[in-house]
Amino acid sequence: MKIIIGCDHAGPALKDVISAHLSEMGHEVIDFGVSEGEKIDYPLMGERVGDAIVAGEADFGVLICGTGLGISIAANKVPGIIAACVSEPTSARLAREHNGANIIAFGARIVGEELACDIVDAFFGATPLGDRHERRRAIFGEIEARHK
Ligand code: RB5
Repeated sequence: MKIIIGCDHAGPALKDVISAHLSEMGHEVIDFGVSEGEKIDYPLMGERVGDAIVAGEADFGVLICGTGLGISIAANKVPGIIAACVSEPTSARLAREHNGANIIAFGARIVGEELACDIVDAFFGATPLGDRHERRRAIFGEIEARHK
């Protein structure tokens, strides 16, 4: 899969670990930064990666900030983005299976390297389930349409 990864200044070290892990798993990784020593306000990176996913530049996104919260909240402001902030693999799997998330987010101050790798493995190893889950996911789009 083609995956965009991005972080704010809290996340470059973990971003590099996850980026290498995803490449080892055979994914094509596009690094949107930032690098160590650079700074960016997390909402701008969330928007940047969200926009790129919606534009079809990649299939999925991975976002990292201090907590994973701010950057996922920002990404979720982009219509078409379903960003899930998680701190363990079960939620990561369910974010795909139930919620159809197209971005997974986590916090560099919350999860360690090994747990973060397990989170992305669970996320990218899962596929969205049908039936009631599909019907519920469709409501995301309906809510966006009601709030234009
Ligand atoms: C930046 O210091 C920090 O606020 C940010 O990385 C993130 O945790 C926000 O949600």
